[in-house]
Amino acid sequence: MPEFRIEVAHDIAACALTVPLQRETWSGDVVVPPQLMLAVAHNGGFVGIGYSAEDPRPAGFVFGFLGIYDYHFRHHSHMLAVRDEYRGSGLAQALKEAQRDHCLDQGIEVIAWTMDPLEARNARFNFGKLGAFTRTYHRDFYGAMPDKLNQGLPSDRIYVEWPIGHDRTYKRLRGEDSAPSLEDAEREGIAYLLRADRERPGAVGQAAAASHLLIEIPRSFQELKARDPKLALAWRLSTREAFERGFGEGYAAVEFLRGADGRGAYLLVPQPRRGQEEPS
Ligand SMILES: CC(C)(COP(=O)(O)OP(=O)(O)OC[C@H]1O[C@@H](n2cnc3c(N)ncnc32)[C@H](O)[C@@H]1OP(=O)(O)O)[C@@H](O)C(=O)NCCC(=O)NCCS
Repeated sequence: MPEFRIEVAHDIAACALTVPLQRETWSGDVVVPPQLMLAVAHNGGFVGIGYSAEDPRPAGFVFGFLGIYDYHFRHHSHMLAVRDEYRGSGLAQALKEAQRDHCLDQGIEVIAWTMDPLEARNARFNFGKLGAFTRTYHRDFYGAMPDKLNQGLPSDRIYVEWPIGHDRTYKRLRGEDSAPSLEDAEREGIAYLLRADRERPGAVGQAAAASHLLIEIPRSFQELKARDPKLALAWRLSTREAFERGFGEGYAAVEFLRGADGRGAYLLVPQPRRGQEEPS
């Protein structure tokens, strides 16, 4: 496992180092200009750049800004990227932990970001490894996006919330607490709100006041999208319907469960009423 160091960007040269990484990850169309990043970093935001000991080029970065949501200050994380050769290395978590430390020092308790709900790797990372949850769905949030990960489909997003001061979050990050397997959930008889029927999304079911529900997504959405754009759109619309139904009936997605055969599904539970604790 390589050693990493995270450097906090305070000047324009450091912010400019993220540009090739942004291009490589999303393509040139969605680059955040380094001048804007620097302005954000000077006003409570955070730009962290990750390096591995044996490589002078940045291996990844995270970028976020201070915001207000629901009458409370929180940090909005706009971008996280790790260069291909450093994926699976632990750098992505190290970057999120550096961002968390920055926010805890400011007295901020929640970091939030948007995520394409069909990206299984990101779901595993955000829900399984970081301990985040979601209760909000946005249709076509960014409109049509021309970059390589998003082009060709409505840019639906879930709004992911990460309670950085919670005990459960610390345990998740230390690996002391982990998600059950999808097989365990199925053995317990948890019903699917949406389940794959071979490659296709099945019909969206009813929540029926269940204590737990599952929403399945494809194993590799980018690969499926490249192979069969119509099927990718069918998944976009079915997951949209399932999440909207679940959230509309008061559920939150609090885990992403994986099967030994590579299947993956979000686990939904009824969310606490306003004024009570966030899901834990
Ligand atoms: C998102 C990103 C930063 C995560 O970094 P990473 O190094 O890939 O993350 P990790 O390897 O620590 O965690 C990913 C997890 O998903 C798992 N995973 C990978 N592909 C998967 C798939 N198809 N289905 C389910 N899980 C998958 C990995 O095995 C790993 O879990 P594990 O550690 O339990 O084995 C990186 O993949 C990236 O730069 N992606 C492109 C940009 C992006 O999507 N950014 C986020 C939105 S702004």
